[in-house]
Amino acid sequence: MQEIEEQKRYMKEVKKINEGITKKYYILTMGCQLNENDSEKLSGMLEEMGYSKVEEEKEADLVLLNTCCIRENAEDKLFGKLGELKRAKTENGIIIAIGGCMMQQDHMIEKIKKSYSFVDLIFGTHTLHKFPEDLYQVLNEKEKIKDVLDIDGEIYEGLPIKRDSKIKASVTIMNGCNNFCSYCIVPYVRGRERSRNPKDIMEEIVGLAKEGYKEITLLGQNVNSYLRSEKEGLRPKFEEYEGIHSFATLLRKVNEIKGIERIRFISPHPKDFTQDVIEAIRDGEKICKLIHLPLQSGSTNILKKMNRKYSKEQYLKLVENMKKTIPNLTLSTDIIVGFPGETEEDFEDTLDVVRKVKFEQVYMFLYSRRVGTPGDKMEDQIPEEIKHERFNRLKKLVEEQMKESNQKYVGTIQTVLVDGPSKNNKTLLSGRTDSNKVVIFEGPQNCIHQLVKIKIISEHMWYLRGELIEE
Ligand code: SAH
Ligand code: SF4
Ligand code: F3S
Repeated sequence: MQEIEEQKRYMKEVKKINEGITKKYYILTMGCQLNENDSEKLSGMLEEMGYSKVEEEKEADLVLLNTCCIRENAEDKLFGKLGELKRAKTENGIIIAIGGCMMQQDHMIEKIKKSYSFVDLIFGTHTLHKFPEDLYQVLNEKEKIKDVLDIDGEIYEGLPIKRDSKIKASVTIMNGCNNFCSYCIVPYVRGRERSRNPKDIMEEIVGLAKEGYKEITLLGQNVNSYLRSEKEGLRPKFEEYEGIHSFATLLRKVNEIKGIERIRFISPHPKDFTQDVIEAIRDGEKICKLIHLPLQSGSTNILKKMNRKYSKEQYLKLVENMKKTIPNLTLSTDIIVGFPGETEEDFEDTLDVVRKVKFEQVYMFLYSRRVGTPGDKMEDQIPEEIKHERFNRLKKLVEEQMKESNQKYVGTIQTVLVDGPSKNNKTLLSGRTDSNKVVIFEGPQNCIHQLVKIKIISEHMWYLRGELIEE
């Protein structure tokens, strides 16, 4: 990888510039887990260049904003932040860099150039690996840099990474998305699907297991189409590696890695949830039985307009089949409320699916118009007050169901991966069940980062209270 070798040279150059001074960086991650994983890579590069991380932007010499543009409020966050940073820029001459999905949109770059011209560096999702080179130019040439590409970037291996956790790690298995759901900006800012070489993924996870990581989350916009573009000849094929040729076979192989105790993945697409994936989940004892299965809407009519390629009935049938095949399966989902043209009847269909499936968790979003997507051009946009009213009705139903599902835990024994002291009460410990519920309990420090058995004694909406079972 010549490109990465070159970036390593730039990392050394920047390190030289910073020699003898402790430079500090602050990084703000505004998006999804893929965005977080990118931030971990940016942090890795920064540390390699002699920067150390601070939690307060006031202390930083370099502020890095990793943006998201999935909904309008994600974008608002950036402009609020830039407003605040202007003073720090003029008073202390800090360096401000902005990367991520939002920077793949021309109208956003224009806006920043016009209204926030003090920003030093703008880079996109396809040029993340070139951050050392771009930063070097900013430091050395004292010029403003924009490094954004419209063509799909390669997947580069061998970049340094600084992970946020010592027991849980995210591993990106593919970039981009080919689905073009009509509300969604992701395919435009992340490009087409590119899978990572199975060999690189497996080596990364084996390495993580050796470092003591216990939980792995496989990441991609549509993980169950892993290696599909390569199979269909849209991308060059990889050399055969341990028989991995699909998402299901990847899951099975990751399940065999010694030291890894839990495997999660997000997000699969219901239309691609094939039987082999369902069986791999059933057979993989380390694969968590909480599956995120984005519904988006329960109305066949709206699903069609959303370009989701499944109907209400197909979704329900898939859930039934999954529940039949995988014992103890729980489900979480994403739902968009107020997509253009959504009638009261359509919304009732969404409530109906929620009632039937009984999700463990529902992530609810108000539909947000995204420039450049087909949804933005549709007539019958739903008025804000109707969106909010429906949102609140859905929320009420979800909360009722959550209470019910929480109650099922009381009296059961759960395996919990212990994260550390509870945030709200440092004398207690906090961890997660297989189904990702937070469990708070009393226990010795040596439980931290271990899997322990906990008897659940009560439920409290956002967490469960438990007692450690001595073995
Ligand atoms: N690839 C993932 C989703 C990534 S975006 C998947 O297909 O599940 C995460 C969630 O944001 C989506 O599932 C959707 O519910 C929501 N979302 C995406 N675009 C949106 C928009 N324009 N308005 C509101 N919510 C949106
Ligand atoms: Fe967006 Fe749909 Fe792709 Fe998910 S599958 S990233 S919702 S276009
Ligand atoms: Fe993620 Fe937001 Fe980009 S959700 S892929 S960071 S637009």
